[in-house]
Amino acid sequence: MAKKIHVATTINGERVEFLCEARQSLLEVLRDTLDLTGSKEGCNNGNCGACTVLLDGQPVDSCLVLGVEAEGAEITTIEGIARDSHLHPIQQCFLEDAALQCGICTPGFIVLAKALLDREGNPSEQEIRFQLAGNLCRCTGYDKIIRAVQHAAQRLAADGEQTAAANPNGSPTRRGQAQRT
Ligand code: FES
Ligand code: FES
Repeated sequence: MAKKIHVATTINGERVEFLCEARQSLLEVLRDTLDLTGSKEGCNNGNCGACTVLLDGQPVDSCLVLGVEAEGAEITTIEGIARDSHLHPIQQCFLEDAALQCGICTPGFIVLAKALLDREGNPSEQEIRFQLAGNLCRCTGYDKIIRAVQHAAQRLAADGEQTAAANPNGSPTRRGQAQRT
């Protein structure tokens, strides 16, 4: 039996420890050891993006990251995107704009879109298309996904303005970022 390695990490804000073999991918650990099955296995070779998670804030294909590389890192999976019991605006906009059919690609797109909108509150259509280009969808034809991300950017900006209006003496936040988690 292969030797297992102890890994301590943070996933969706919670301290997590697990044992994994040196050869196991982070995707395998998330799905099979930690029961976080939201990240999907499409290709298992870095081509589809269905397994995208944030590793220290950067989007990565978790099928190409080893579980042991999670040591000491901060990981966000699709399970950590919602705010308390409410869908994140990106999730809500994907639903409202019918940006999914089978849903296999959806977790990866939402995590990737969050990374983009955390960095850039008002991306152009070209920027969105460029940033999402590594993720594949075999169902929707992409236009609905792009529209949903544009819609989410507008909604996040509106949320930020409402928060600023409700808290005029609060510390300044960049437009559209006030409520991002
Ligand atoms: S399953 Fe990881 S990129 Fe396709
Ligand atoms: S919704 Fe089916 S692959 Fe994208």
